[in-house]
Amino acid sequence: MSRTPNEHAESVTAGRLRERCRAVGLPVWRCLVDGTVVEHPTTRGLAGLWLGAGMIERLMGRAVHAWRGEDPGAPMRLFDGCWLLGMPERVAGRIAGYHVAMALSHEALYSEHFLAACSGAQLDAPATRHALEPLARHTAASVGDLGRLMRWMAADLDELAGATRGLSDFTDALTFSYETIDLLYALGRSMSRPERPDVFVRRALVSLQSVLDFYWIGAAFIDDDRMLPGVSGTAVLEHDARIDTYSVEKALRRMLETHGDPEGGEIHESFPGAGALGGPQAYCVPLTRSGRVIGVLAAGDKHGDDPQVSTFDTGLIDAAACQISPFLETTALYAEQHAMFMGTLSALTSAIDAKDPYTCGHSARVAYLAAALAQRVGLDGDTVERVHIAGLVHDVGKIGVPEAVLGKAGRLTDEEFDRIKQHPAIGNKILQGIPALRDVLPGVLYHHERWDGKGYPTGRAGEDIPLFARLIGIADTFDAMSSSRSYRAAMPREKVLAEIRRCGGTQFDPRLVEPFLGIDLGEYDNMLRSATGPDYGLGEAA
Ligand SMILES: [Fe+2]
Repeated sequence: MSRTPNEHAESVTAGRLRERCRAVGLPVWRCLVDGTVVEHPTTRGLAGLWLGAGMIERLMGRAVHAWRGEDPGAPMRLFDGCWLLGMPERVAGRIAGYHVAMALSHEALYSEHFLAACSGAQLDAPATRHALEPLARHTAASVGDLGRLMRWMAADLDELAGATRGLSDFTDALTFSYETIDLLYALGRSMSRPERPDVFVRRALVSLQSVLDFYWIGAAFIDDDRMLPGVSGTAVLEHDARIDTYSVEKALRRMLETHGDPEGGEIHESFPGAGALGGPQAYCVPLTRSGRVIGVLAAGDKHGDDPQVSTFDTGLIDAAACQISPFLETTALYAEQHAMFMGTLSALTSAIDAKDPYTCGHSARVAYLAAALAQRVGLDGDTVERVHIAGLVHDVGKIGVPEAVLGKAGRLTDEEFDRIKQHPAIGNKILQGIPALRDVLPGVLYHHERWDGKGYPTGRAGEDIPLFARLIGIADTFDAMSSSRSYRAAMPREKVLAEIRRCGGTQFDPRLVEPFLGIDLGEYDNMLRSATGPDYGLGEAA
């Protein structure tokens, strides 16, 4: 298992200290505060055997025990010519142990203790003395200063380790800041363009998984009519292939049911179905709308060096939740407004169609066909939707034409036809005060123009006729021929299609004819069938 940056800093400090002691002929032990020796000098041969003798170790343990976890101060005399120099080893500011160096003088090699230690370790005293002579280079006069220098060095190395830890903490903080900014930037960019909520949530999960060490990151949402389509009642997961998604989704839904606090996240210590690949913890944070919990964002089965959920993890998941919640809120509000807008348009067009029982459902069908044609000629989704709206409102100007004229069974007089011909301009005038419909106005004003310039109200020809109007024009004519009118019955489908083909290049943009003829009319026929009113000619068309 790899070490944390702090453990690494401490290990580097200990290594340097031992190395420097060795360089000045000081064998060094590492002891715990209770006197237990956990590391021995690395000296080999007879010298190493003497230093590892049980008696030396016992004496050292006694000395360390006597220091009682305090700074050892001056060198401790162990026996004649042998001193112990204690250097505290601090962890988080407290003494956790000692490095203990042994300083020897020649006097030590002739002392009773030396002879006893050699005898105890079954070593030949003269040969051992000879092996230890390179270490016996200190004197009673210098050992006090040496001890002071060693303690200062230990303190300096401690300070260096502290600075290294500080730098490591700072690097962690910097990494966290970078990851957070990067994540928020990525999510912010997604928010700035219209995106489906489920796509946005998925993107957030992918971003989180790329920077966090979790085997799964997921979100679950309540099932509610007021929720957004695509996310309502769903659970979304980004996960390692080995994850049991059924169990994790179940756990996610349970977290959603039990998470009451709309403000804060919660660490779950363990739960069934999770923790199989990584740590047992999961972190769960609420997703809210108007202060109400509508979902949860959670991550679990952490891997890497530390299986516990860290503040780095919670910070980043919190930051992502803070982006997802307002996005969902804004998108839901937009969806509500859009639904209200479309509902208003539908009500308006139904009211116009109702003026003439023969044109019941005409606007909705023209909108459908014009949008289908727009899609077939490769226009993007947003434009197709605008074409649909233009189709819905294309005949709104008929509101200004008397019902007696619109529903007249016989031939129209010139004056009556002039009244009819005013409806595109009337519609344009009615709608031009609505900013949200500004881009669809050309579709309304020019939908009765013809490719050959013989239409109304302006007589524009070819590409001078805006595309929206050309799309609506062909759909409008198709629907008029396919449904019964006050002055004639519905035409059979084959005849209608032949007429559309024949009029390419005269009435219609010739490039739109073939794509139009390729539209699947199944849905259109359903719309025609469900419209109330007289016979719509489907019997003949079939
Ligand atoms: Fe019209």
